[in-house]
Amino acid sequence: MMTKGGRKVVKKTKLAVIGVGARGKGLMTNLARMEDVEIIAVCDRFMDRAEAARDTALELTGLSPRLHKDWHDVLDEPGLEGVIVATPWYLHIPVTIAAMKKGIRPGSEVGGAFDVQDCWKLIDTYEETGTPAMLLENRCWNRDAMLVTALAKAGLFGEIVACSMGYMHDLRKQVGGDKDPHHGRVREYLERNCNNYATHPLGPCAKLLGINRGNRITSLVAISSKAAGMADYVSRQPGHPLAGSSWKQGDITNVILTLAHGETIHLTLDTTLPRRYAHGFFVHGTRGMFNGEKREVFIDGMHDEEQPSELDNLDSFRDQYEDPIWRTFNPDDNAAHGGTDYLTLRAFVESIQKQTEPPIDVYDMATWKAVTPLSEQSIAHGGHPVDFPDFTRGMWLRR
Ligand SMILES: NC(=O)c1ccc[n+]([C@@H]2O[C@H](COP(=O)([O-])OP(=O)(O)OC[C@H]3O[C@@H](n4cnc5c(N)ncnc54)[C@H](O)[C@@H]3O)[C@@H](O)[C@H]2O)c1
Repeated sequence: MMTKGGRKVVKKTKLAVIGVGARGKGLMTNLARMEDVEIIAVCDRFMDRAEAARDTALELTGLSPRLHKDWHDVLDEPGLEGVIVATPWYLHIPVTIAAMKKGIRPGSEVGGAFDVQDCWKLIDTYEETGTPAMLLENRCWNRDAMLVTALAKAGLFGEIVACSMGYMHDLRKQVGGDKDPHHGRVREYLERNCNNYATHPLGPCAKLLGINRGNRITSLVAISSKAAGMADYVSRQPGHPLAGSSWKQGDITNVILTLAHGETIHLTLDTTLPRRYAHGFFVHGTRGMFNGEKREVFIDGMHDEEQPSELDNLDSFRDQYEDPIWRTFNPDDNAAHGGTDYLTLRAFVESIQKQTEPPIDVYDMATWKAVTPLSEQSIAHGGHPVDFPDFTRGMWLRR
């Protein structure tokens, strides 16, 4: 912040948003409310969406971002410092790479890669250009996950042996294109069978187990159930355009990752059957565990297996172990994803302002996104183990 004639002048970080569907518009709105950010451009292949995003920015800030239909043009915006990539998954890596080549910092939305080679291209581009990129994995700022990570790092669970988490969210309306027939997930579920959303559950587990920072994933196995949920769902919607389609994506996909120090991570994708939203977060160590279904911390010697469960006792650990970020941050009741979107975007903006590496960097992005194509390979071969590449080229030991 600077002062001019006694007035406070806040230097604004110039950002653009590519893909202003439901998610991109939400992120843009969050950013437009920040006093140290200016949205200078928005882009969507549908101009009415770009115009709606522009109108929201104008209403919130009094400034009107320029509109683009072609994302390449956004990267030629003068003074652009960072770009949010909120398109469907197939564009995340191409836009991220193109932005890095122009010296513009990309913040990519979550979702898997198509090909492991694309993940290597992310690494090569970063190492050639030196432009940092961030994966906007908002679950890493989940308050409970951060607290449980602090308990694990403080040793309360002893030596960690296994973690699990899932993306368990009934997406049948989105996948069926009921809300928007152009929605990016529609084709994915018709054409592919993989864990397409592994970054959501992997992010918090990777932070807890130090993946790419002293630990790494060495192998993966994946199994998918049959795909019955979408066919049943669309068959019950009269006149649904996808009735009779054959869906490739299995309803429940399980991935197990093995790490260099012997831990396992179990990731579940469960998005096409009826259910309530859940994270399914479990952490298990030699001295205790966290059971996310009950929000229960169980410590050897402190809790007794013979006694009734201490449901929801996680909060009793807050005073001592709460992450500093959540001691001061107080999201309002309407904050998207409980405030985690705001915290993720602040980390992105502040890494640009301070010219630092973002907390989820290009090595994490490549690693977490690679679970998708590697799980696809494993599933296609009946759950065969697949070697996991070391995207850090050996640096995981020293990072
Ligand atoms: N982190 C989270 O909690 C969270 C939540 C929801 C969605 N997401 C992710 O955000 C991304 C966007 O999600 P969505 O639900 O808005 O998806 P979507 O498929 O509805 O929309 C993305 C937008 O990108 C636009 N688009 C598509 N191709 C384009 C192109 N070539 N050029 C410019 N614009 C283009 C579409 O028109 C659409 O408006 C996805 O990657 C999704 O996985 C993340």
